[in-house]
Amino acid sequence: MSDVIVKTTNLTKNFPAKKGIFRRSNGCIYAVHDVNLEIPEGKIFGLVGESGSGKTTIGNLLVRLIEPTCGRIQLNGQDILDLKKSEEIHFRRKVQMIFQDPYESLNPRLTVYETVAEPLIIQEKRSMHGNEKELLYALESAGLTPPQDFLYRYPHELSGGQRQRVAIARALIIRPKFVVADEPVSMLDVSIRVSVLNLMLELKDNFGLTYLFITHDLSIARYMCDWLIVMYQGKIVESGNTEEVIQHPLHPYTRALISAVPIPDPMVKRRRVELSEAMEDTSKPPLRCRFYPKCETRSPICEREYPEFNDKGHAHFVACHGV
Ligand SMILES: Nc1ncnc2c1ncn2[C@@H]1O[C@H](COP(=O)(O)OP(=O)(O)OP(=O)(O)O)[C@@H](O)[C@H]1O
Ligand SMILES: [Mg+2]
Repeated sequence: MSDVIVKTTNLTKNFPAKKGIFRRSNGCIYAVHDVNLEIPEGKIFGLVGESGSGKTTIGNLLVRLIEPTCGRIQLNGQDILDLKKSEEIHFRRKVQMIFQDPYESLNPRLTVYETVAEPLIIQEKRSMHGNEKELLYALESAGLTPPQDFLYRYPHELSGGQRQRVAIARALIIRPKFVVADEPVSMLDVSIRVSVLNLMLELKDNFGLTYLFITHDLSIARYMCDWLIVMYQGKIVESGNTEEVIQHPLHPYTRALISAVPIPDPMVKRRRVELSEAMEDTSKPPLRCRFYPKCETRSPICEREYPEFNDKGHAHFVACHGV
């Protein structure tokens, strides 16, 4: 197994649940609860699960867009939550995020040059001018060719796919090691998704990147990821090698998730399991397994205690009393 680049220990993020016309705080949303991750260097780690399961919250925590309620995060063995100012600059260079919506993530008033050069100006205290060579290389690496045609364009002059490539060039320009990609193709036209995914695979090899790849689309996860983590209501319920998890899902939630979507592999036989629409109320501290109310194979212990995360062989882990 390769070196671990990112490690989390009991990572937890609660948001205040605001209800009513005065938006008074009324309990907590346990968006991410006690999450332990080890992301190996050079791999693509997929985070999958339904809407609201806490995927984006984990991504935002790992790049420090938000701070955890409790728990630890390490990057290359160093705790990133209490960095000195000088170490913080170094950290910001090593991690980058690619967001879901290329229409929102680019400033409409900045040219491609200004957008992509911004990290150099902030991180390396450079001036705006004189960065053409690096910019052209980053744009070309992101598949915007010929790159000089794009330098002085504004986001409104670009297609969704071209905007996402600009966002990728911007993330790459300071040579990060770890990139969180949050549903990077879900807002793009289906016809161009594969080319952006292939670009990301190519960049991983060329730039020596490690990705946390967030998606709710299992066929994309299967195409991209070496490893899968399945989340349900803020908890990791299963993890393992991508093919192992997809072909031999152990957790009842993963089985339901896989049976609910088409995954293009005719060798996988699937029986459809119904996932009810209503989400469990997460405003109370959960003691039981969070999938308990919807589980087809539940037993009394599932209501009393949250199951341990156990290795079932082949580095396939699952948190379920029934497996
Ligand atoms: N800033 C916030 N304030 C309050 N609640 C939040 C905030 N951000 C996220 N949440 C809540 O935390 C939970 C997890 O949200 P998150 O966005 O991480 O889910 P997700 O898995 O990324 O979902 P999606 O697939 O829809 O993007 C949800 O219940 C969400 O409403
Ligand atoms: Mg999200």
